[in-house]
Amino acid sequence: MHGDARVMATLGGVRSDGETERFLRANLDHWRRHGHGLLVFRERASGAFVGRGGLRHVEVAGSAEVELAYAVMAAFWGRGLGGEMAAALLRHGGERLGLRGIVAFTLTTNAASRRVMEKLGFRFERNIVHAGLPHVLYRRGPVPTCPSPSGRPAARRRDG
Ligand SMILES: CC(C)(COP(=O)(O)OP(=O)(O)OC[C@H]1O[C@@H](n2cnc3c(N)ncnc32)[C@H](O)[C@@H]1OP(=O)(O)O)[C@@H](O)C(=O)NCCC(=O)NCCS
Repeated sequence: MHGDARVMATLGGVRSDGETERFLRANLDHWRRHGHGLLVFRERASGAFVGRGGLRHVEVAGSAEVELAYAVMAAFWGRGLGGEMAAALLRHGGERLGLRGIVAFTLTTNAASRRVMEKLGFRFERNIVHAGLPHVLYRRGPVPTCPSPSGRPAARRRDG
């Protein structure tokens, strides 16, 4: 993925093997410190590598945030997989990690990524500069947990 100019055009450009090794070390360190981080996603039928994504603690525009990150191999674009990965990560953040709010950010020109964010209920917050480039910052509030199997709320309040 890091050698593919199409994918990396919106992720800071193609990375060398050395840069990729540093990226992997930093992300493994994130797993050790926080107990979660980047995951590899595979196509269910073939097992082919589809992409990577995760929830990461980052500093963005001067604030400590948890970021929803995702990237899909170009051969799989436009099949809904980026949205599926992002939705699964968002549920995980709400149900398992109990995160109260999650941000996502991308280059202002990355229309596909902005669409993925908006379909998941992220709201545009503001324009920011990240890594020296113009980005848009989106934010999503707490993610509701799954309803009970009956479809009714798991616990009901009794009045009176
Ligand atoms: C952004 C990315 C993950 C999207 O992956 P994907 O699997 O193609 O996403 P999906 O198929 O789930 O949805 C993409 C949506 O964007 C829309 N879209 C795609 N290109 C678009 C464009 N140029 N302008 C407007 N909308 C666009 C699609 O129509 C789709 O919306 P729809 O479901 O309403 O039709 C993928 O392009 C990618 O990995 N890019 C490189 C890495 C990257 O930029 N990651 C995000 C950094 S925050």
